[in-house]
Amino acid sequence: VNTATLTVDASLETSPSLLDSALEPRTDYTAAFSYALEGLRAEGRYRVFTELERPAERFPRALWHSEDGVREVVIWCSNDYLNMGHHPVVLTAMREAIDSGATGAGGTRNIGGNHHEHVQLETLLAELHGKEAALSFTSGWVANLTALTTLGRVLPDAVILSDSENHNSMIEGIKRSGAQRVIFKHNDLADLERHLAALPLSRAKIIAFESLYSMDGDIAPIGAICDLAARYNAFTYLDEVHAVGMYGARGGGQAQAQGVEDRVDLIQGTLGKAFGLQGGYVAAKREIVDGIRSLGAGFIFSTAMPPVIAAGARASIQHLLRSSVERDLQQAHAAQLKSLLLEAGLPVMPSPSHIVPVMVGDAALCKRISDTLLEAHGVYVQPINYPTVARGTERLRFTPGPKHTPDMLRELVNSLLEVWTRFGLMD
Ligand SMILES: Cc1ncc(COP(=O)(O)O)c(C=O)c1O
Repeated sequence: VNTATLTVDASLETSPSLLDSALEPRTDYTAAFSYALEGLRAEGRYRVFTELERPAERFPRALWHSEDGVREVVIWCSNDYLNMGHHPVVLTAMREAIDSGATGAGGTRNIGGNHHEHVQLETLLAELHGKEAALSFTSGWVANLTALTTLGRVLPDAVILSDSENHNSMIEGIKRSGAQRVIFKHNDLADLERHLAALPLSRAKIIAFESLYSMDGDIAPIGAICDLAARYNAFTYLDEVHAVGMYGARGGGQAQAQGVEDRVDLIQGTLGKAFGLQGGYVAAKREIVDGIRSLGAGFIFSTAMPPVIAAGARASIQHLLRSSVERDLQQAHAAQLKSLLLEAGLPVMPSPSHIVPVMVGDAALCKRISDTLLEAHGVYVQPINYPTVARGTERLRFTPGPKHTPDMLRELVNSLLEVWTRFGLMD
């Protein structure tokens, strides 16, 4: 088979069944995977994961296990935005939890019970968001999948109005929910209202959206969306994955920062980004959380988050409830990096948040730039390609943290300038 003529859509995340049509014979299982991988390589978006070690005391410097040996690099794209994964309060809480035997959960909650650490974590999460109850999951992805699936199944004849830029985990949850899906234009209140107005007031409607979109770094008008929800009798489902720990006086996210936390019906978040560990959750009214606990397959049939992680996450949340030092430093460094990039004439995309995207616009080039930055400059930043972003908008995405120094910021911009010049991208 001439692989060049194959039109395999190799975005396995979204359409594995498309592989089918390209196979001759269809039962050559290994060849099917080879074709799929070939497609990814041909497009320059075959993903290579860099092998790193991140010793706590050296972060954001890290050790890269390259083919030529171990080299020091600087990490520029971590979603452990505040480096809480290495914070002494987190490390101490986790060590103590391990010493007390709180390692694995011992099964699903149905089998293993509610570990005391799970209960304490969920009480704190509810308090963080000013909600009656919260429920933890093994990841933010599972939390979205499970919660949206359950909402759609519990609410008869529901329609889920989904922002066009919503994350894959929400899309998958909506698909599984069986509810009708209506996609509204990204952050577009007029388009959302047009769709809402076309639906009967008596029909269940869920507006599913994110507070902070992680690839462009833009922020949703949460209050105005809640106004529309109130007007059209809709339920609001807000993914705060990239905002929890980062915004609001207590780290409750964008809804807290915008003063509208009490108007959002359900807040979904992660413990894997600003809180530095792993796991996801939802926070809402008691009955809704109890319904997801009781009916959500992704909760019921999966081993609970290890209590040691719950203990570390609780320490992280508690610290960020009181301390804004990490948030403030991170914001200052992001602002500094944006202005240095602008000054240098590099194509930094406008973003009102802690995320600093730099446009490349071509998958293969994006990968080559990222490789060159790592190999020649010790800069670790992963290329962001389709399907994470639309084709033609491939980019580098920088997330400077509280521990990046002004010297590191300047060195980064100099490295980018050199690479942009080398690839003939400077005017
Ligand atoms: C908007 C959004 N929601 C949910 C998730 C999934 O969260 P987690 O990484 O905890 O599984 C992500 C992951 O990047 C995300 O970007």
